[in-house]
Amino acid sequence: MLLGLGAKPAPGAALPVRSWKAFGSAAAAAAKAHKASQLVLNVFLHVPDAEAQQAIAAGVLLGAFDDTRFKSKPKTSSLTTVAFEFRAAPAFKPAQALASGAILARQLVGAPPNVATPSALAETARQLASSYPDVLTVKILEKEDCERLKMGAFLGVAQASDEPLKFIHITYTPRGGAAPGAPVLALVGKGLTFDSGGYNIKAGSGSMIELMKFDMGGAAAVLGAAKSLAQLEPPGCSVHFVIASCENMIGSRGLRPGDILTASNGKTIEVNNTDAEGRLTLADALTYVQRECGATRVVDIATLTGACMVALGTGIAGLWSPQDELAAALVSAGDAAGEKLWRMPLEDAYWDQMKSDLADCKNTGMGKGGAITAALFLKEWIQKDVSWAHCDIAGPVWDDKLGATGFGAATLTHWVLGESRRALP
Ligand code: BES
Ligand code: MN
Ligand code: ZN
Repeated sequence: MLLGLGAKPAPGAALPVRSWKAFGSAAAAAAKAHKASQLVLNVFLHVPDAEAQQAIAAGVLLGAFDDTRFKSKPKTSSLTTVAFEFRAAPAFKPAQALASGAILARQLVGAPPNVATPSALAETARQLASSYPDVLTVKILEKEDCERLKMGAFLGVAQASDEPLKFIHITYTPRGGAAPGAPVLALVGKGLTFDSGGYNIKAGSGSMIELMKFDMGGAAAVLGAAKSLAQLEPPGCSVHFVIASCENMIGSRGLRPGDILTASNGKTIEVNNTDAEGRLTLADALTYVQRECGATRVVDIATLTGACMVALGTGIAGLWSPQDELAAALVSAGDAAGEKLWRMPLEDAYWDQMKSDLADCKNTGMGKGGAITAALFLKEWIQKDVSWAHCDIAGPVWDDKLGATGFGAATLTHWVLGESRRALP
């Protein structure tokens, strides 16, 4: 077969990683569609560098992946061998590490909500730590532990569900320890394994309630990044991977619209909409990484708002940060990963929507700019001396044709690799 790469880039410009990755995926998909058993990639064009070669390899691995876990009679793929004919020997180990993290994220997001429960996410975290014991450790906080830490916002969201909540904390420590003076990094993922909306139930055909298993896409990206980084073993920075995981359900114990919750940093929140639950769970997770882990650079990733999907569509994640350097570092990590992020404004004037007469704030603004007010809400939980960015992946977490995309795992991995490089003397 002959596969094209689209328009020729301008002279001097390189093809983006995204194109090389798509090329690899298309080759694997075409080979599978034609029941081929062997795929030999002979790239006639000059493949510019190791990064592009890695992107092709990662693309092939992702394109070859089939999720057959839930078929009673799974079809086995015909494709057994993939060979590459490049000019230089490509670095396959990083490609494999990146692809395996993204595939883990896809499997977690793609699994149904009765399988990918908070307990299942915790079990995945435990398994990761036991697979990479030299660099990963894990701690799972139960409901009582969260009560001790006074995580009223997270506990409030979880209280209607019979599924036990799990607060997941994986730590990556480089072999030989972190470089002196290196920033302490934290990746925080939204881990709602199902979001019914609560009493503000997701009703009507546009609500996507039947897809709300993907509301742990941020958590999946964080676990995927942990898997990739445990294999890549970057020296430099320690990284905390944190997920406050639960379901948002309905029941007599459930949150009522109008309830007031006290988060673990003491701030009070009037819950004017039980469907804005993600930010409540993130509030306590963000407090935890700053207080308990001493994180100085924090990135959260969440399927947070339908409004972000309206703004940017399904191909692009929204990115918010008060720090220009952090925002730029994440955009370039996205470029290296083949994932698109677009910086959005933290428009302080919109905070007026979130003011409450009774509590310190409400959890939703009733006006326009819902993705922005969500980001402003999270910013309230960030200490002044901490750098922070928020990624809203409500759009790119899911593809109508492909299903779960694993979006974010590769970007977060590249971001940590970049920070680690900068932290070395
Ligand atoms: N998980 C949803 C966000 C979402 C909605 C992602 C649709 C992808 C598709 C989130 O918990 C939510 O329900 N957000 C509300 C916020 C609103 C109540 C302010 C939303 O976007 O409608
Ligand atoms: Mn919701
Ligand atoms: Zn949600």
